[in-house]
Amino acid sequence: MKQLYFLLMDIFWEVHRDLPREGPGDNASTRRAFQCLPAMPARPFILDMGCGPGMQTLELARLSGGRLVGLDTHLPFLIHLHREAQAVGLAAQIDILNASMANAPFAEQSFDLIWSEGAIYILGFAAGLSLWRRLLRPGGCVAVTELSWLKQDPPQEPLSFWRSNYPAMQSVETNCQMASKAGYHLLEHFTLPDSAWWESYYGPMHQRITALRAKYADRPENLAGLDGEQAEIDLFQQYSNWYGYEFYLLRA
Ligand SMILES: C[S@@+](CC[C@H](N)C(=O)[O-])C[C@H]1O[C@@H](n2cnc3c(N)ncnc32)[C@H](O)[C@@H]1O
Repeated sequence: MKQLYFLLMDIFWEVHRDLPREGPGDNASTRRAFQCLPAMPARPFILDMGCGPGMQTLELARLSGGRLVGLDTHLPFLIHLHREAQAVGLAAQIDILNASMANAPFAEQSFDLIWSEGAIYILGFAAGLSLWRRLLRPGGCVAVTELSWLKQDPPQEPLSFWRSNYPAMQSVETNCQMASKAGYHLLEHFTLPDSAWWESYYGPMHQRITALRAKYADRPENLAGLDGEQAEIDLFQQYSNWYGYEFYLLRA
């Protein structure tokens, strides 16, 4: 059992290593979300929780002109972000921090903005919002994307898949209510376009899976791991009108 777990983790990292993003999203959506927020100070201090390889961290640095911290537990993502920031002349704006979003090592009221694309699920949507509130300056904002049901009564196939892979997944309406209960005012919310799933995430992921199928053609246990990764992509292809990544823009 333990061996199977390690095999699946190896396959997971082989599929996910060096992808442009580690979840759905694109720069246009990051820009749209930033523009929904109230005016920020001239050089806002921003924390990007679970920044991954940091495509959105770089875009936020350009948009805000602020100081940013990209926080993640996976060091190779942070190294990638740091190198990219150096390559495009943004390294002076972006610090990297290898730490957990569950206990980010900052004083209360440190940040004007907490950003998190596709990562708050790690704590749980409501739990993450409650926990992070103390880090915000008065009137500070949170911008997060979260996998959400877009319509009621989804078909059995996506329902079963997400019940076993992300049982805490809620509707957009329920997430808005939970944000309000956690002490936030909802400024805006919108659904990421399907293209934001394909261009920098599922597209490159599918190409990687195809290449690995050739590499592991004679290793059925590895192929089974690849099937698991592909199943999520196939599901989205068929049912993307039922669920999606919702951007929630909130003010404390
Ligand atoms: C789905 S990925 C999203 C990455 C990035 N925001 C993006 O959109 O490309 C989730 C990220 O959270 C990171 N992560 C997982 N557990 C974490 C934790 N406890 N604290 C901080 N980051 C964590 C993972 O390493 C990964 O980079």
